[in-house]
Amino acid sequence: MFKRVLGMFSNDLAIDLGTANTLVLVKGQGICINEPSVVAMQYDKHGQQRILAVGQEAKKMVGKTPGNIKAIRPMKDGVIADFEVTEMMIRYFIEKAHKRKGFFSPRIIICVPYGLTQVERRAVKDSAENAGARYVYLIEEPMAAAIGAGLPVKDPNGNLVVDIGGGTTEIGVTSLGGLVQSKSIRIAGDSIDQAIVDYVKKNFNLLIGDRIAEELKIEIGTAIPLEEELVTTVRGRDQIEGSLTSIEITSEHIRAAIQDSLDGIVNALEDVLELIPPELAGDIVENGIVLTGGGALIRGLDKYISDIVKLPVYIAEDPLLAVAKGTGIALDELDVLQQTAYED
Ligand SMILES: Nc1ncnc2c1ncn2[C@@H]1O[C@H](COP(=O)(O)OP(=O)(O)OP(=O)(O)O)[C@@H](O)[C@H]1O
Ligand SMILES: [Mg+2]
Repeated sequence: MFKRVLGMFSNDLAIDLGTANTLVLVKGQGICINEPSVVAMQYDKHGQQRILAVGQEAKKMVGKTPGNIKAIRPMKDGVIADFEVTEMMIRYFIEKAHKRKGFFSPRIIICVPYGLTQVERRAVKDSAENAGARYVYLIEEPMAAAIGAGLPVKDPNGNLVVDIGGGTTEIGVTSLGGLVQSKSIRIAGDSIDQAIVDYVKKNFNLLIGDRIAEELKIEIGTAIPLEEELVTTVRGRDQIEGSLTSIEITSEHIRAAIQDSLDGIVNALEDVLELIPPELAGDIVENGIVLTGGGALIRGLDKYISDIVKLPVYIAEDPLLAVAKGTGIALDELDVLQQTAYED
C-alpha cells in the first residue's frame, strides 16, 4: 500500500545504459538525457578520486587530459570495465534526472548490454537502488531495440533486429514477447574505429586517436562505393618522423578499413539466420531485418547487408534512440512485459 502511494508521486525512469551513450527517459516526458558514457575523474595527491565531469563534457577530455585527470569509459566491449565508475555514472545520471523534476523513489528499468554477467547485472541494479530507485528492472538490449524500432514483438511472428552499438552488435529474433534467438559480438562502433586507426597507421604511417577515427567514420565512412567518393583531411603524428602532419583520406580508404568489421557483423547475422526455426523463417523473409544503434548510420550499410543475405534491410527511425524508446515502452508496460523485463 505504501509503495502504491509512493508510486503516485514518482516519475519512473527508463535508462539505456550503453557502452558509448547513456540515455534517460522520464515516463510521460520522453528522453531527457542523451550523453556519452564517459566520466572524467580527478585524482588529488592522496590518490582520492572525484568526478570532474560526466557525459559530453567528459568526452571532450578523452585523450587530452593532464596527469591527474583521467577520462574513463567505464563500460567497454559490452562489459563493465570499471565497476566503481559505472556506479558513479549511473547515480549521476539518475540524480540529474531527479533534480530536474523532483522525483520520489521511482521505478527504473535499465537496458544493459546483452553479455553482462550476473555479477555485472547485480552491480547495475545496486547502483540504481543506491541512487534511490524503488524497483529496478533490467531488459535485454535486442528486445528493447526491437520494441523501440516499432516491431510487433508480442505477435506470434518472427522479427529480426540487429543493434550495432559502440561495444557490441546484438542480433535478436523476437516472437510472442520473447527472444527466440540471439547473438552478441564485440564487433561494433568501437572496434570499427580501432580498425580505422590501424588502417591509417599501416597505410599512411600516421598515428591518430580513437576520437579522430570516429569522426572519420561518421564524416566519410561508407559500406558501399559512392557515386561521388568523399574526401577529408586528417591530422596526426607521422609514425616514422615523429612530426605532426596531415593527409587527405577518402571514403574508399575508410571502406577498405572497415570492410572486415562489416563482414564480421554479416557473418554473425548469417549464423543467426541459419538457426531460425522454420516456423519463423518465413516471417523474416517477409518482414526483413531492422537495423538500430549508431552503427546503422554507416552509409549504405542497409544495402551492403541486404545484397549479401538477400533479405530486405531497413533502418529504424532515429536508430540511436531506438533502444531508449523501446526501454521506455517496456516501462509503460512493465506488468504486461514480464517475460522480457525481469528482476534478478
Ligand atoms: N552517423 C554515424 N555513422 C556511423 N556511426 C555512427 C554514427 N553516429 C554514431 N555512430 C556510432 O554509433 C556508436 C554508438 O551507438 P549507440 O549509442 O547505439 O551505442 P551504445 O548503445 O552506447 O553501445 P552498446 O549498445 O554497444 O552498449 C558509436 O560507435 C558511434 O561512433
Ligand atoms: Mg546500445
